[in-house]
Amino acid sequence: MTINDERDLEAMKRIGKIVGTTLREMRQAVQPGMTTLELDTMGAAILQRHGARSAPPLVYGFPGQFCISVNAEAAHGIPGGRVLRAGDLVKIDLTAELDGYMADAAVTAPVGPLSAATANLAACARMALTKAIGAVRDGARLNEIGRAAEEEVLRHGYTVIAGLCGHGVGHTIHEEPREILNYYNPRIRTRMTEGQVLAIEPHITTGDGRIAQAADGWTLATVDGASVANFEHSVVVTRGRPLILTAA
Ligand code: CO
Repeated sequence: MTINDERDLEAMKRIGKIVGTTLREMRQAVQPGMTTLELDTMGAAILQRHGARSAPPLVYGFPGQFCISVNAEAAHGIPGGRVLRAGDLVKIDLTAELDGYMADAAVTAPVGPLSAATANLAACARMALTKAIGAVRDGARLNEIGRAAEEEVLRHGYTVIAGLCGHGVGHTIHEEPREILNYYNPRIRTRMTEGQVLAIEPHITTGDGRIAQAADGWTLATVDGASVANFEHSVVVTRGRPLILTAA
């Protein structure tokens, strides 16, 4: 969406804050021995307390409240009986809705102590998002976002998962611009405009970056079994630094 007035802005700030707060609380609650369904249920209670609703079940019929993806699972993991173990990397992705406005964010949560290699991957994903957000500005090319993310990821010797990209968000989950690439494509000439709400979400991996859908029809996992890390924020394009809606 493009924010047109104060009402839009206030509503997006409200739902953004709820999404950010919910993910922060969930990230802190993650521990070995917990199932992904327990994590999902816990998060759903927080959302309910805020009067917000998870959007993926509403919009796409997703069979869970949160997309919870572990290790080689990159996105759209279905909460279930999987037990989290120390050293796992859990990606929690939430799009929530309040009063017709939606914000989208994701965090990577460590389960107990991580190996140095896994911790580095997660740290790089966080930095790639920071760099990508740094490229967001009214009038700049959309492909600067991918350029900034990719540069950071390559510098650390990791790979951008090309098949997963960011998107516009606000009135529904996926809006124009449909594909905000996390790598540089010089052919993309589109420019960002003030007030646009963008969900930016580089997914990175230690492997070759190919993904495939699992038999459950939802989960996207790396073909080579390599781990994935991802952070996501919904941001508003301004003439200066973007406004991060889903910070907590
Ligand atoms: Co998203």
